[in-house]
Amino acid sequence: MPLNKETGYIHGHEDKERHYGSLVPPIYQSSTFTFPDAESGAARFSGNGNGYMYSRLGNPTVREFEERMAAAERGEKALAFASGMAAVSAVLTSLLRSGDHVLVSKGVYGCTFGLLSWLSDRFDVHANYISMENKSDLAENLQPTTKVIYVETPINPTMKMTDFSLITQFAQEHNLTVIVDNTFASPYLQRPLEHNADVVVHSATKYLGGHGDVIAGVAVGSFDFMEVVRKNAQKDMGGVLGSFEAWLLLRGMKTLSVRMDRHCANAKVIAEKLKKHLQVETIFFPGDPDFQQCELTSKQMDQPGGMISFTVKGGKEAAFNVMNRLKMIAIAVSLGDAETLIQHPASMTHAVIPEAEREFMGISDNMLRLSVGLEHYEDIWNDLEQALAGN
Ligand SMILES: Cc1ncc(COP(=O)(O)O)c(C=O)c1O
Repeated sequence: MPLNKETGYIHGHEDKERHYGSLVPPIYQSSTFTFPDAESGAARFSGNGNGYMYSRLGNPTVREFEERMAAAERGEKALAFASGMAAVSAVLTSLLRSGDHVLVSKGVYGCTFGLLSWLSDRFDVHANYISMENKSDLAENLQPTTKVIYVETPINPTMKMTDFSLITQFAQEHNLTVIVDNTFASPYLQRPLEHNADVVVHSATKYLGGHGDVIAGVAVGSFDFMEVVRKNAQKDMGGVLGSFEAWLLLRGMKTLSVRMDRHCANAKVIAEKLKKHLQVETIFFPGDPDFQQCELTSKQMDQPGGMISFTVKGGKEAAFNVMNRLKMIAIAVSLGDAETLIQHPASMTHAVIPEAEREFMGISDNMLRLSVGLEHYEDIWNDLEQALAGN
């Protein structure tokens, strides 16, 4: 019987007997693994033997996390990486060759933009950032060399959403691979593979880890494609996850559902209050009934999430003043932690994107991004309110 998603995050498939009945999988903190004899070592390297060889090629604790993530995203196979960017770059370089073209959502994490710019400068791989609101947006930008559609949804930090049914149907018609960065939602709120996307990537640093103590990434897709990623982009470029980090992620995942419920409940209250505040110009929150794509949120997300962006009256200076007046809320990038975090996308997470393109993506100088934490919502709001009151 398939497990409910909440249960699946807690109960993996590990062989408890092998771990002396240990409830929690141990951390296999070993770089290499011994072979009982030379023949078994050779067999493992030729792919014909069971067992581990060297932790860059596979590690039992990391494998446990990968299996739990494959189940969480309803995919066939997951691979864990040293960071979200290691996952994104491994997937993109496994799919693209020199001369290829990528259709990208109008807005992505700054370093994803940076990676695509670097691939363009050095490896002749080109990208177009487009709104993807309807089929003609896609059709007008399709090139004979287009191979991939890469989206974040909700987009960091504007929260714009992309309709999975629109892009996956278009991709099928034109033989394109759809990659979705699911970091903002987590598999608890949204499972793109269920909507026919091909590959999901995550910064596991965020909601999956959930405690601000690990940098990690993961990619999930079909067995065949992930094997391609494993054999080259992972094995030979080597951005693998360490076993301790995998163990932290296994621990984080056990509470993913309860944490996400609380993040979402808090964010809903804070968004409502921010929306009414006189110093706030606009809020960007997928659960806001006035949010342009609110219907799409309920179509493809189980809940609208724990992230809110908002613009304040008075420009960049006013936005900085709000951050500097906060007493409890930390000024920090990253998201999905127990602590509420605030940051200024234009000068922090998205600073590498040239100003004109940032504006095109809707990232203004008076925008702040809030990762709503797990504290009592009254304390979060009291801090925000006193910080906004000074403007
Ligand atoms: C949406 C998104 N994708 C990818 C990344 C990159 O992840 P990492 O910092 O773990 O490399 C981030 C980091 O903030 C992100 O927000």
